Amino acid sequence: MIVPRQKIVAFTGNTRRPSRSLNLAALIARRIQAHLDADYRHLDVLDAGPGLGAALTRKQLTPEALAVVEAVEEADILVAVSPVYKGSYTGLFKHLFDFVDMDALIGRPVVIGATGGGPRHSLVVEHQMRPLFGFFSALTIPTAVYAEDASFQDDEVADPAILARVEAAAVQCAELARAVGPRRQRGEGAAAPVEQTGRVIPLKS
Ligand SMILES: Cc1cc2nc3c(=O)[nH]c(=O)nc-3n(C[C@H](O)[C@H](O)[C@H](O)COP(=O)(O)O)c2cc1C
Repeated sequence: MIVPRQKIVAFTGNTRRPSRSLNLAALIARRIQAHLDADYRHLDVLDAGPGLGAALTRKQLTPEALAVVEAVEEADILVAVSPVYKGSYTGLFKHLFDFVDMDALIGRPVVIGATGGGPRHSLVVEHQMRPLFGFFSALTIPTAVYAEDASFQDDEVADPAILARVEAAAVQCAELARAVGPRRQRGEGAAAPVEQTGRVIPLKS
């Protein structure tokens, strides 16, 4: 059986470029690729354009914004990184995920990360990012990556401790992605076992 190459999609909540968040996500994706044969595509809030913020329903999304939502929904592996704004992910980062189908990320490996001005909000990855992907029944990688301004040189991660966390997250992600495999194509039949176990175990009355 031919197993298709997995698709890594990085989505970042930066509202400007160049962006430390974008660079951190790109680094994580490249390190995953060092351990797993996978394609990689990067999208950010700017790719979605002004049509993202203006939309209140999925039908109102512009084609560019919808394309970003669909790319996230079709990812085999998601790398999700946001700058910290006011102690959390950016509003537009969350707004994008508000349009993502609630079943699209079940059982999908997700590396979470954030960048901030200082160390004070480092737990944003645990207190905001991880619960968001818990909602989606995604498989967040145990090692999350937070990098502050002082961790970067010329907008690239330079702190050896952060680079070590990136590597740990990438190795964990590659191992999990190998075990889980790529997502089944739409309409291809039953979901993979991990997807079947993902959501809504009805409570016995
Ligand atoms: C509107 C705004 C709010 C911010 N709020 C925080 C914050 O609450 N905590 C923090 O550590 N950094 C905060 N920052 C700093 C950014 O998170 C930080 O510079 C980040 O690395 C920028 O990422 P980017 O290069 O991807 O845009 C804020 C920056 C902006 C523009």
